[in-house]
Amino acid sequence: MAKVIYVGSAGDEYAVEAAVGDTVMGAAVRNGVPGIVAECGGNCSCATCHVWVDPQFADRTGPVQEMEEDLLDMAVSERRATSRLACQIRITEELDGLTVEIPPEQP
Ligand code: FES
Repeated sequence: MAKVIYVGSAGDEYAVEAAVGDTVMGAAVRNGVPGIVAECGGNCSCATCHVWVDPQFADRTGPVQEMEEDLLDMAVSERRATSRLACQIRITEELDGLTVEIPPEQP
């Protein structure tokens, strides 16, 4: 398990014990974290699971693939250097303590 902390746009925090192998999106949805819409169910085709990853974890979340890259450009909220689609981040032990911010708007 790895702890993932989701921070909402109003500063509200949700700490979730996520299973290794799950995704940051999946753990959020399963635990009722608001703001991760995940319209496509994790198929990397909607961008409604956009998050901003805490910079100190950015090098542990794996590379951004081409499809994700394109979708991030279409995300409604500002794209930042640490923008990711939560469905494309796989939970590992190394990510224990991962903090992600949920943008105020999803498409
Ligand atoms: S859930 Fe649709 S792109 Fe992540």
